[in-house]
Amino acid sequence: MQNEFFKSKKSEFAELKAYIDSVKNSQGVTMQILQKAQGIFGYLPLEVQQFISDETNIPLADIYGVVTFYTQFSTEEKGKHKIGVCLGTACYVRGSQEILDKLSEELKVSVGKTTEDKLFTLEATRCLGCCGLAPVMVIDDDVYGKLEAKKIPDILKKYQ
Ligand code: FES
Repeated sequence: MQNEFFKSKKSEFAELKAYIDSVKNSQGVTMQILQKAQGIFGYLPLEVQQFISDETNIPLADIYGVVTFYTQFSTEEKGKHKIGVCLGTACYVRGSQEILDKLSEELKVSVGKTTEDKLFTLEATRCLGCCGLAPVMVIDDDVYGKLEAKKIPDILKKYQ
């Protein structure tokens, strides 16, 4: 497993190995190991899944199955800023699809993907619990309510 990714992340893999060694004799630790690994790497590329499989003797197919089943895990690297546009009913009827389309156009990225410069990840979300502010977008911990598509470029500039 001496590929470029492994070489560039030696200390992260060492940290993960130390963690796996500390828990691997316990039962049902797959989720814990994957959570730890995602905390260390930020996401779970195949190299990390393979490493976990090698270290725990859990088949790679099983690990891959867990990673892809739970939305808390990601196999793709996330951007520095996470943008979530609410597509819940209240937001949708007030035009959140237009907001999402505008973001997609401005950032040149499709929903669920990360911009080439790794600055933004664009996601659609379920109801964020502040329907009175519809349509709603969140960037990291900042909430933008009663949003209009024309305001998007200026908002994005704050994070660039
Ligand atoms: S539907 Fe968007 S916040 Fe509830």
